[in-house]
Parts: sequence; C-alpha cells; structure tokens
Amino acid sequence: MKDDLLKLLDLSREEIREILDTADQMKYNQKHGIPHDYLRGKTLAMIFEKNSTRTRVSFETGMYQLGGHAVFLSGKESQVGRGEPVQDTARVLERYCDGIMIRTYEQQEVEELAKYASIPVINGLTDFCHPCQVLADLMTVRERMARLEGLKLCFIGDGNNMANSLIVGGLKCRMDVSVACPEGYDPDPQVLEFAQSWDQARFELVRDPMEAADHADVVVTDVWASMGQEEQAQKRRMAFEGVYQVNERLMAVANPGAMVQHCLPAHRGEEITAQVFEAHADEIFQEAENRLHAQKAVMYLLMGR
Ligand code: CP
Ligand code: NVA
Repeated sequence: MKDDLLKLLDLSREEIREILDTADQMKYNQKHGIPHDYLRGKTLAMIFEKNSTRTRVSFETGMYQLGGHAVFLSGKESQVGRGEPVQDTARVLERYCDGIMIRTYEQQEVEELAKYASIPVINGLTDFCHPCQVLADLMTVRERMARLEGLKLCFIGDGNNMANSLIVGGLKCRMDVSVACPEGYDPDPQVLEFAQSWDQARFELVRDPMEAADHADVVVTDVWASMGQEEQAQKRRMAFEGVYQVNERLMAVANPGAMVQHCLPAHRGEEITAQVFEAHADEIFQEAENRLHAQKAVMYLLMGR
C-alpha cells in the first residue's frame, strides 16, 4: 500500500513524531552541508488550483535539495482547469512522476486523486485542511519550546483549514487546544467530532478570544477570508472586526513568553496588529522556513523508501 499525506486525521501521534524528527534531521543536514539527496532522479508534480508563494517555493526547492525535480502545473494552464477528470490526471501523472502535491478547493478532489494514483499524494492545502503548514508549525513550537505535550495552543479567528489542522495536529501531539471563532464560523464538524472524543488533551471551542488565549503558550491566527472566499470578505469583516484579532491586549492574557504563529500571508490591522506581528516576526518566519524542512521530511518518508 502506498502512503499519502491527505489530512492529519489520518496520522497517528507516532507518525507525526516521525515526520517532525525527520524534519529536524533534514534541517540539520541542510544547515551543515550534509548531503541528503535521497530523491535523486525522482520527480514531483505540483498542481496548483489556488495561488501560493511559500508552498510552491518550499516544495520546489525541497525537491531540488533532495536531488530530485519538481514540475509546476497551474490549474488554469493545465488540462486540470479545463475539467479533465481527476481519475485520468492521476493515471497520467503516475506514469511520469513519483509523487503529486496538490493545492485545491475540495478535499474530495485530493482524496480521489490519491485513490486513483499509484504514487503518493500530498495535500498542499484544501478548503478543509493544511497539513503541511501545521507540521511546520508543530516543528517550530517544538524547536522553540522543547516540547509539545502539555502546552496550550489557541487559535483566534475563522474555523478554516488552518483551524481544522491545528486542532487535529495539536491534540494528537497532546497539546491543549482552545479555539475562539464567531458563531457561524466554527471548524469542520468532522474535526469537532474528533476533538470532542479525544481524551489525551483538552479541547474547547469558545466565542471570546480572551478566554481562548488565557494562559496560552502558542497563539495562532489566520486571515478572516481565505482563498475562494473573496466575495464574502465584507460580510466576514463585519463578523470578525474588532474582536477576533491578535493584539497586545490579547497577548497580555497569554503566558509570558508565548509564541505567535501565522501561516502567512498576514493582513496587518485585521487578524493581527502590526505591533504583535513585528514583535513575533522571528518565530513567524521560522515557521515559514520550516515548511521547507517539514515537507522534505514528508517527501522523503513517502517517496524515498
Ligand atoms: N502558508 C502558505 O501556505 O503560504 P502560500 O499560500 O504562500 O503557499
Ligand atoms: N486560510 C488561508 C491559508 C493560506 C495559506 C487560505 O486558505 O487562504
């Protein structure tokens, strides 16, 4: 059976730990010039149906550093955007490539691609989740705080793809997770069901950001309107503005030395103030860097053995 990275719900705590440990090793090797061209001669197809800076560059660079090659396919310019069935795309790409990374809207499309392709499929973001980003976040928290278990992570804002993956990844790593979002913008029901049945760490969903951030060790936020929700931006602004923001008042109730994480791009003055963003820029850009190392780990574990 081939393996894929479709969503963190599919992974055990041990599998997440294996990815994080491998990511640390990848980072060490890269920083110390230790050769790690484990994917020499291999090719990753990257399908993007949404925009990207970090995901595209980190996957492409990561593949290069592993000795392989990446091919970029934009939804608009490839036949994917003209409606070629995912079953056919899967059966074509598997004949040229050794893995597929896809960023798209529907989680179902990624699951279908994985079902029909005989090569590993990696989810580079869907409306439902963003597993690669959260693996990088967990790696960053562990680097800076030396552990995950027992820490409190809070997420302030929209119950979106980032919230869904943080809830699952955080809880699986035995972090307590507290989410504050406005009514009508809750995380996915499948994720809430998982969280409510999980007994190895605490989970709460509240409306008051101050309550969620109380004694938090890690404060995370994301944009109010995600890619594909541009038309709802005004309505969303009204639901979030003035309340669902990571600012100094909110950071004051978090634990001293609390970290801030943001997957980026950030909208200063909306979900996070410029002041808090700049005060925590070091850890936020470390998080962005760790996309590279975490994804190299994922590609090595899925495609290199
Ligand atoms: N955080 C993230 O996935 O960034 P991009 O949209 O630039 O890939
Ligand atoms: N929630 C954001 C994350 C971007 C990396 C989006 O889906 O647009």
